[in-house]
Amino acid sequence: MKVLVINGPNLNMLGTREPDVYGSMTYDELCKYVSDSAEELKVKMEVSFVQSNCEGELIDTIHGAKGVHDALIINPGAYTHYSYAIYDALLSVDLPTIEVHLSNVHKREKFRHNSVVVPACVGQITGLGAYGYVAALGFFAGGEEGGK
Ligand code: DQA
Repeated sequence: MKVLVINGPNLNMLGTREPDVYGSMTYDELCKYVSDSAEELKVKMEVSFVQSNCEGELIDTIHGAKGVHDALIINPGAYTHYSYAIYDALLSVDLPTIEVHLSNVHKREKFRHNSVVVPACVGQITGLGAYGYVAALGFFAGGEEGGK
């Protein structure tokens, strides 16, 4: 199974960006942690990563995933809260998608409580830090069946 992990704006700044909110793991360390965790799943997962600070690039990446990847994991960053274009892009490719947030968006400012993207997703994982991406992979691997 081929899974594409898409990270949106400012996630390249992990490690130094508000570490009290997002932790001390850098973006590269996060990708390695998720890849290493994928290898421990029973189901073989081929995981690749894209990060962009540009809405259009994220949309092109989503379009390009059709016919190439079987599932998407997306942390749209702040676009979560207002990008109907990313929502439409996800609908257009019709790939199973899980929205992930490192922080618990529901414990934070009110504008972060709403996601305009999640209605195009299977579900949302929020507040579990980097493990959220691994949990999403585990779901695509078949939940408990595909776990370690
Ligand atoms: C985030 C939460 C968003 O509200 C914020 O804009 C981000 C990161 C998270 O992973 O917790 O950039 O998506």
